Amino acid sequence: MNVQELIEKAKEARKWSYCPYSNFAVGSALLCKDGQVFYGANIENSSYSLSMCAERNALYNALMHGYKKEDFLALAVVADTPRACAMCGACRQVFSELFPAEGKIYLANVEGSVIETDISQLLPYAFSSEDLKK
Ligand code: THU
Repeated sequence: MNVQELIEKAKEARKWSYCPYSNFAVGSALLCKDGQVFYGANIENSSYSLSMCAERNALYNALMHGYKKEDFLALAVVADTPRACAMCGACRQVFSELFPAEGKIYLANVEGSVIETDISQLLPYAFSSEDLKK
C-alpha cells in the first residue's frame, strides 16, 4: 500500500467519528507490516475530557487485535484543517511508547497537504519508562 492509499483510508475513517461537540471529524489509519490496516476516528463524550482521539483509537484497535509495536509500519491522520492535521500532545506521548521510532507518521488534511514525520520529531526528549528508574 502506498502513502496516498493510506491517507485515503484515514480520510474514509472520518465517517466513524462521533464528534457532536467539536464537529471536528478526525480519521486515522495504521498500516502493519503484513498489510493489515486498522482504523480510528475521534469519539467524543458529553463529559468532554473523556473524548478519545482518532490516532489513539487506531493504535488501540491494532493492539486489541494482537498486533505489537514492532508490527507497525506507518500511521496517517486526516482532518479538515487549514494545514496538515497536527497530532495532540497526549497522542504523541502514547505513540512514543507504543509506536516504533522508525515508523512513518503522515499528518494530512482533506485538501491534500501532507507532512511526513516520525515520533522523535513530534516529541523530542519524551518521558519514558527509563525516567522511572533511579
Ligand atoms: N482530535 C483527534 O482526534 N486527533 C488530533 O490529532 C487532534 C484532535 C480530536 C479530539 C476532539 O474530538 C476533536 O478532535 C477536537 O479537538
